[in-house]
Amino acid sequence: MLFSLRRLLPAKKPQKTSHHNEVPRHVAIIMDGNGRWAAERGLPRTAGHHAGMGALRRTIRAAGELGIEVLTVFAFSTENWKRPKAEVDFLMRLPQEFLKTDLPELMEKNVRVRMSGNREGLPLHTLQAVDTAIEKTKTNTGMILNFALNYGSRAEIVAAVRKIAFLAAKGKLDPQTIDENRFNQYLFTADLPDPDLLIRCSGEIRLSNFLLWQLAYAELWFTDVYWPDFKGEHLLAAIEAFRRRDRRFGGINL
Ligand code: IPE
Ligand code: IPE
Ligand code: MG
Repeated sequence: MLFSLRRLLPAKKPQKTSHHNEVPRHVAIIMDGNGRWAAERGLPRTAGHHAGMGALRRTIRAAGELGIEVLTVFAFSTENWKRPKAEVDFLMRLPQEFLKTDLPELMEKNVRVRMSGNREGLPLHTLQAVDTAIEKTKTNTGMILNFALNYGSRAEIVAAVRKIAFLAAKGKLDPQTIDENRFNQYLFTADLPDPDLLIRCSGEIRLSNFLLWQLAYAELWFTDVYWPDFKGEHLLAAIEAFRRRDRRFGGINL
């Protein structure tokens, strides 16, 4: 029965290269699994976070070579404050450490650094490291490296609503004029294209409050690889999968 019904289906369209997606403009990554990577080796969780910097370096290099325009990496969530203070303190030192070693290469590669997240709550030394990198790279015209630091998507959306409500209450904004594009302007990612591809490693299949608005039509790609083991080949595999996806955005591709 199934066989005969199948025969009624139109023959599958030959793959047209024009249907293949280009390389994604914006790739977002949830860099997860540092703790488990360390635990498997009998090391403290912080060793996993430290090793994660190597993965970040490799990924930035690979993303640049592939011509990705924006790379957003989830470095610390608003929920990560729940972790033990020693781990949080260690994580808050990583931007400094990473930028101290890697800022020259970022400059050489014309990478522009920026941040998406709440500045309030971050230690001064963390902010200073990130601000220095943002300032030094501000005229670079290559890939944008966007650190999602102290970032939570619900908090971001609520903050946007609060700003809009405040302006409306003051009579400075007509509620009738608020549409999706306008709303987007109140998010940390206002001037960035939405991510086309989201990568999460470590085997978890969830968004963990990351870019809920911006990922509305992103292609999602998951791998069991722990972040410290993530290499250019994994990014390539994700992009190859992305290129084969049929992105319909609710429409139909004829
Ligand atoms: C990701 O690795 C890094 C941060 C969340 C800062 P984890 O620390 O979450 O590692 P697992 O998920 O516990 O293995
Ligand atoms: C998400 O990972 C946050 C970052 C990678 C920075 P988590 O490890 O915090 O997410 P959950 O707790 O597994 O959802
Ligand atoms: Mg985790």
